[in-house]
Order: sequence, then structure tokens, then C-alpha cells
Amino acid sequence: MAKTEQTAENAQLKDIIAHAKEYGFVYPSSEIYDGLQAVYDYGAYGVELKNNLKRLWWETMTRLNDNIVGIDASIFMHPTTWKASGHVDSFNDPMIDNKDSKKRYRADVLIEEKAAQYEQSGEKARAQELLSAMARLLEAEDFAGVRDLIINESIVCPISGTANWTEVRQFNLMFSTQVGSVSEDASTIYLRPETAQGIFVNFLNVQKTARMKIPFGIAQIGKAFRNEIVARQFIFRMREFEQMEMQFFVRPGSELDWYKEWAATRMKWHKALGIPEEKLRRHDHEKLAHYANAAMDIEYEFPFGFKEVEGIHSRTDFDLKSHQEYSKKKQQYFDPEINQNYIPYVIETSIGADRLFLMTLCNAFVDEQVEGKQRTYLKFHPAIAPVKAAILPLVKKDGLPEKAKEIVEALKYDFNIIYEEAASIGKRYTRQDLIGTPFCIAVDHQTLEDNTVTIRHRDTTEQERVAIADLHARLTEACSFRRVFEKI
Ligand code: GAP
Repeated sequence: MAKTEQTAENAQLKDIIAHAKEYGFVYPSSEIYDGLQAVYDYGAYGVELKNNLKRLWWETMTRLNDNIVGIDASIFMHPTTWKASGHVDSFNDPMIDNKDSKKRYRADVLIEEKAAQYEQSGEKARAQELLSAMARLLEAEDFAGVRDLIINESIVCPISGTANWTEVRQFNLMFSTQVGSVSEDASTIYLRPETAQGIFVNFLNVQKTARMKIPFGIAQIGKAFRNEIVARQFIFRMREFEQMEMQFFVRPGSELDWYKEWAATRMKWHKALGIPEEKLRRHDHEKLAHYANAAMDIEYEFPFGFKEVEGIHSRTDFDLKSHQEYSKKKQQYFDPEINQNYIPYVIETSIGADRLFLMTLCNAFVDEQVEGKQRTYLKFHPAIAPVKAAILPLVKKDGLPEKAKEIVEALKYDFNIIYEEAASIGKRYTRQDLIGTPFCIAVDHQTLEDNTVTIRHRDTTEQERVAIADLHARLTEACSFRRVFEKI
């Protein structure tokens, strides 16, 4: 990306962040104390949008698939869980500090950014060479070599402009705390860095109690915590975030077919949500984690470039096998079809609710010139829009508010509805555009005569006359999750 392009892209992200704050979507956490880095709170419309996205994911998993059920495991888990999963020993990022600016960076990110610069200036082979050299060094845990690479590539700190770097050190991303009231009895436990392990340790509980037969999946939505050092790009990389993960347990040997299937299904889901094809891409991992035999990301083109939104991983039997070893409890399934016991293989789909939220917000944000006037609106798919319809009496008299409130009563049990009577109708339309309400329903004097209202459509601003009696069906038709499900 050229520098001017980059500046424009950053400006777009800044506009989106400002919009999110101004119109009740996302605020910095504990803002009155100047915030806490990489931690954010969701406002009145943000929480509605996020809940809708989570519900859509949940229902996609558990309703569209009769072989997927959900769980809700705790954030705290027995500390051995994280030993077995490999997080205690290897959930690390290689960090480097600049001695002049005192800023800390992820060494691999600095190198990746340099490679991106080569790529943008047409030096593709050089970029690839640099990334391969980095992958080799990281794999060999040669951190002195990683530092040399940074220095040889003349990578400087963006703040100080110098290459006065410290050694590269490994930094574990898990937050730890103590359980137990007396310090001698206290033991270290962790805030879970992924929700997946809560699924693995409950594999047999769920399989037995929900009487599941392989292939089957377990879905979970919940908080995860990572002590991200380089916290940037708004809610893209947070220290406290929410994951939506599904582990799909399959017969060994069939995992790559299921991997292919889930990769295709999840890509379709994003498109069904209204994300344009050209804004999505698949990134296959070349360097696989030790537990995986295939892995890919679904990436979205954020204002700061293509970045991961969701990961799909074929995790073999690594996790269950490791839990079997550490817990000394068998994690096997008896497959009646082939009369065999085995540890199932696992395909994982893992998406951050906050990252999905950011993608949805970026994709919905429209700031355009219409006939010389600036118009900003959020074009959310109606199924996930925070507010489905605003009911607006044209004036605050002549019985119009009463009529409008009757409509609110008829709709509010099934849809999130707003009633507003203050300000001109034009201003009220604009306010709804800014929070992405797909339909504004205006109640005027004609309504009193013939029980019809005007529906004003957010994206086109077109208006049509509709009978009040048809409103419920119209909103159901437009806002139902079915609209998304049908496209998967
Ligand atoms: N269980 C597999 C796992 O946790 P991951 O690639 O580390 O894999 C999965 O994370 C997803 O979780 C990512 O694709 C992203 O959407 C989300 N995620 C990870 N770290 C995050 C962070 N610091 N802030 C927000 N979302 C994050």
C-alpha cells in the first residue's frame, strides 16, 4: 500500500472509531481514567449488534446442524489444562524493545511489516525470502538470529527512528492470578487464553450426556484473555475478548475431508452476512503448529489491510491425547459402526466476536456525497442491525403519538424498536441512519384515516406506503436469521 493510500485507510479507521464512540457502539474501557489499553466497552447499540452476531453464530452452529450442541465452560480451569494444551510452555510472542523510545514490539510483526513494504514496492521475492528466513529462525527458537535479521534489514523503531534494539525475549501471553486466601495455600491459575480447552476437557461429558455420535461438534461462546503486548487497531487485538469456537470430533482419517467442508461452510457464512467476496480471502498456513495437519484463516480487508477474522484448524488428536496423558483418564470414543475405540480427531472453527463485530462495522460504514451533501449511514444486514425499526410520528400532536405507540406495542415483543418524536422527521431519519436502523416507519395524518404508514428504507432512502397490518410480516421477512441461513 502506498503511503498516501495508507494514510487514507488510517483516516477511515479513525472515522469508524470516532463513529463507534459517538453513536453508542464502542467506548474505551474506564474512559474517565483515560482508558485501559486494548480493553473496550460496548454501548447501547454495540451490545445489541454484538449479541445479534453471537446469536446468529450460535444458531448457525446449533440449529442448522443437528449434530452440534453447545456448552458454557468456566473461565478458570485446572492449571494442568494449560500444561497439557501447551500454553504454559509455548504460548509466547517474541518481543523486542527499543532502548531509545522504550517501546516494546513483537519481533515477528516488525519483520512482517518490512516484508509488506518490499511487497508493496514490487519486490515479492525479497519479501518471501525475508518471511522464510524469519520462519526458520523462529522455528529453531534462534532469537539472537531474529534480532540480527531486524538489524540487518535496517528495521528501526517508528517512534525513535533508531535501531537501538534489546535482545529478543519470549513473553507468555497468559494472565495468571492466585486462588486461595492464604498465600501459602494459594496456587497459580490462569484466565483462559482460548475457549477451546473448556470444550476438550468436557468432550466425554457432552458426548455421553447429549448422546452424541461421531461426527459431532461442541460449540461455545465466551471470554478469553491474552496479555497482548502490541495492542493496536481498536478492537482487532484486545486483552479481554470473546471467542466463538466449535470443535468438531471426527473419525481419524476423515479429518481432512471435514476440514475442507468446514472451510467452505464458514466462508459461505461470511458472504451470507453481506461481506462482499472481494473483501474476503483465504490464507492457508504454510508453517503449521505442531498439533495441526492443516490450517487456514479467513481474512477480511480491514482499513489496515487483509487480516484474520476466523481460523479453521485440523488439530488432529493432539489436545484429547494430551489431556488423556496428563489427567490419566481415557478420552476415547467407542465407534459402534466400526466396532473400535479411538481418540477422535478435531476440526476447529474459531472466530473472535469482537473481530467479527469490527469487520461488520467496517463493512457497514458508508460515508458518501449525495447531491453535494455528506451522508453517513451503517448498512448492516437487517438480521443483525441493533435496532430493526424506528416508529416516528410526524408531529407531536393530533393523536399521531398515540397511534405510533400502538404500533410500538404491536412490534416490540418480536423486534428491537425505537420510538422517537423529538426533532424534524429528516433529523430523526439521519439519527437512525447513523446507528444503522434499516426501517423508519413514519405515522402521519393519513395513518389515522386508512391505517397505513410510510416505510423509509435506510440504504436507498426510498419510501413506500404500507398497511399497519402488514408491518409485522414485513419486518419478519427482512430481519429473520432465515435470510442469512438460506445462503449458507
Ligand atoms: N482455539 C484456537 C485459537 O484460539 P487463534 O487464532 O489464536 O486460535 C482465534 O484465535 C480467533 O480469536 C482469531 O481468529 C480472532 O478472531 C480471535 N482473537 C484472537 N486473539 C484476539 C485478540 N487479542 N483480540 C480479539 N480477537 C482475538
